[in-house]
Amino acid sequence: MKVLIKSDAARAVDCVAGLIVARLQRLPTSVLGLATGGTMEAVYARLIAAHREGAVSFARARSFNLDEYVGLAPDHPCSYWRYMREHLFDRVDFPPGATLLPRGDAPDPEAEAQRYEAAIVAAGDIGLQLLGLGTNGHIGFNEPTSSLSSLTRIKTLTRSTRAANARFFDRPEDVPRLAITMGIGTILRAQEVILLACGPAKAEAAAALIEGPLAAACPASALQLHRKVTVVLDQAAASRLALRDYYEEVHPGGDAASI
Ligand code: GLP
Repeated sequence: MKVLIKSDAARAVDCVAGLIVARLQRLPTSVLGLATGGTMEAVYARLIAAHREGAVSFARARSFNLDEYVGLAPDHPCSYWRYMREHLFDRVDFPPGATLLPRGDAPDPEAEAQRYEAAIVAAGDIGLQLLGLGTNGHIGFNEPTSSLSSLTRIKTLTRSTRAANARFFDRPEDVPRLAITMGIGTILRAQEVILLACGPAKAEAAAALIEGPLAAACPASALQLHRKVTVVLDQAAASRLALRDYYEEVHPGGDAASI
């Protein structure tokens, strides 16, 4: 696991956006795994800027998002479909039909989850998976005690996750209780994973992910099993790491290239 510690959130975001751009330049037909949440908004803004500058194209890429709320149709203002259209899809050059999310309004959500998993397999799995981090250690919507080999399925959201995401809804009681999420096993099949976490609220989960025991209590700790993971943190999110000096010695300034 590569742990890159940046001096502030803006530099952490630049780093992640730069890694995504570099991958697309190298492999324009990449299958991207995309994430939502407040942290990703700045990453997508950087990708849009890079696209406008002519540095990157999504014209030959495809994407699968991690998750969607059960019960929200794609045009619902709080759906992740809507989030992705507003923050990325409508503003870069993905071809029509190349960007997929689970359908939150599918009549049979369990069948939809299985269909989505099969679509990821049929695409040859994810090339580069982008992840945020829940304050309770979730990735996608894989809440604590998720099976570490789980596939795309329905998960019940914890009260803390619903509270953390309530800011995106008009009323806290509007946050759905269920979501369709890629499983931890689905995520672990990606060729490469980049996780971004910023701010003091993520410090405990980041330490559990990087240094804690491999445990379903912190779903993100499953990334310890993956061969190619880069975790990008700002100073605040890195503040609880016991081996912080070591990571900073290996990657001074959070430079991905240094060994
Ligand atoms: C949601 C998403 C996760 C994301 C998390 C963190 O729960 N399902 O994929 O990592 O939010 O969001 P934020 O960046 O807003 O802290």
